[in-house]
Amino acid sequence: MFYQVYPRSFADSDGDGVGDLGGVREKIGYLELLGVDALWICPVMRSPQADGGYDVSDPRDIDPLFGGLAALDELIAEAHDREIKVTMDLVPNHTSVEHPWFTAAVDAAPGSPERARYIFRDGRGKDGAEPPNNWPSIFGGPAWTRVTDRDGTPGQWYLHIFAPEQPDLNWDNPEVAADFEKTLRFWLDRGVDGFRIDVAHGMAKPEGLPDMARVETKMLVHDDDDPRFNNPGVHAIHRRIRTIIDEYPHAVAIGEVWVDDNTRFGEYVRPDELHLAFNFRLAETPFTAEGVREAITFSLEAVSDVGAPPTWTLSNHDIEREVTRYGGGKIGVSRARAMMMVELALPGAVFVYNGAELGLPNVDDLPEDALQDPVWERSGHTERGRDGCRVPIPWEGASTPFGFTAAEQAWLPIPADWADRTVEAQLETLHSTLSLYRLAIDLRGTRPEFAGDRIEWYGSPDGCLAFRRPGGLVCVLNASDGPIQLPPGEVLLASAPIVDDRLPANAAAWLV
Ligand code: NOJ
Repeated sequence: MFYQVYPRSFADSDGDGVGDLGGVREKIGYLELLGVDALWICPVMRSPQADGGYDVSDPRDIDPLFGGLAALDELIAEAHDREIKVTMDLVPNHTSVEHPWFTAAVDAAPGSPERARYIFRDGRGKDGAEPPNNWPSIFGGPAWTRVTDRDGTPGQWYLHIFAPEQPDLNWDNPEVAADFEKTLRFWLDRGVDGFRIDVAHGMAKPEGLPDMARVETKMLVHDDDDPRFNNPGVHAIHRRIRTIIDEYPHAVAIGEVWVDDNTRFGEYVRPDELHLAFNFRLAETPFTAEGVREAITFSLEAVSDVGAPPTWTLSNHDIEREVTRYGGGKIGVSRARAMMMVELALPGAVFVYNGAELGLPNVDDLPEDALQDPVWERSGHTERGRDGCRVPIPWEGASTPFGFTAAEQAWLPIPADWADRTVEAQLETLHSTLSLYRLAIDLRGTRPEFAGDRIEWYGSPDGCLAFRRPGGLVCVLNASDGPIQLPPGEVLLASAPIVDDRLPANAAAWLV
């Protein structure tokens, strides 16, 4: 089980209101108790933080905000002592505008080797005043920004699929690939166990950068026929990355791959490409038996032909938290608990986003002046963006910031009514969401009934689903409106109390 740490929001060790690697190290005992096998740490490299660290100005250094390189070394040592692996987030698709390559490119002339590391083009229309094509940025507005030449006149445009502070690299330039290889080796030599690769379906751009047939203006969303992503050239890039990673036999590469088509998705996890790729289908599915069954079937099919393990996740730092997605309040928490038991019953790799184990909801009423996601500005204040799922973890005590920081305020305010959701409040409570996660993770790791990499569907009442692992585990989800009779067997764990062999609505159970 991978545990995703959003470091800004996990724990603050130096009292500046922002979480850091020292904070992760201080909480390593908690992560061990939870039973995590590996950490995925969102970007901590040097960055002006225009997009929460996904705008990297030096890919081979740790930002002082997170404690510098020494803090990472200490965290790796401590995690390894407890047999927890550490994977880092790498961002190959783009850099920060403060990366020395980009500042040099802006200073250099059109056609120069400096500009050839990025995607600079002349504009269209009179005096090149129109962007080179019609691509929108994922965060709203055009995907192109015009630079000003040294003599003060408007110059070429550069491509940024994300924020203007995140110029896209030109992966057709061998220098770009060589530099990324240097970065991979730099971290692997320091003891890192692998990488989550950001926008792993990006990097390669189509020949001639053709216009989009249909301009997708919905923020943070794209379809399979979108020319900005999933171009065939990306696979050669992954094959090259894999040859480096294979020099470190313990290491793993996990790609962020937003590709719907199963065949296309599977291509990313062929034996000589990524080890794993995120499949977001479960996180995109509403709480219905039919939807969940379909998402599971699809996700298994996507990887079975190429022989890669499936992956499961209910949320991350880009997606509304599951408690809120499933209806919020008590019902949202019940459904999130049930879905956690479904995903942990499945074969493959499970990714848990920090705070999910506490049943945290999204915070959708953050004060506007606290919002930091570039989406807020880029959408002209019409979309609040992703800050609501990035609110810091409440650790202990009765008042905000709940031990997250010694500062008066965390970088995003923690709601005052989270006192009953703190780690401290849940740790010793048998029926808390945290206790349920601990039990479920422990059973998954120790019980022989979880063996086998297939599942077999069982007949089940309307609005419910049930499947069996070859080892003998049966998982039942009740997404209907009322209680259902459980099949025969011993109940190993249930997300809600079982009365007279009946599983209540919005609950799941494991039987052997
Ligand atoms: C995906 C990351 O998960 C997201 O947070 C980020 O904004 C974009 N990639 C751009 O790097």
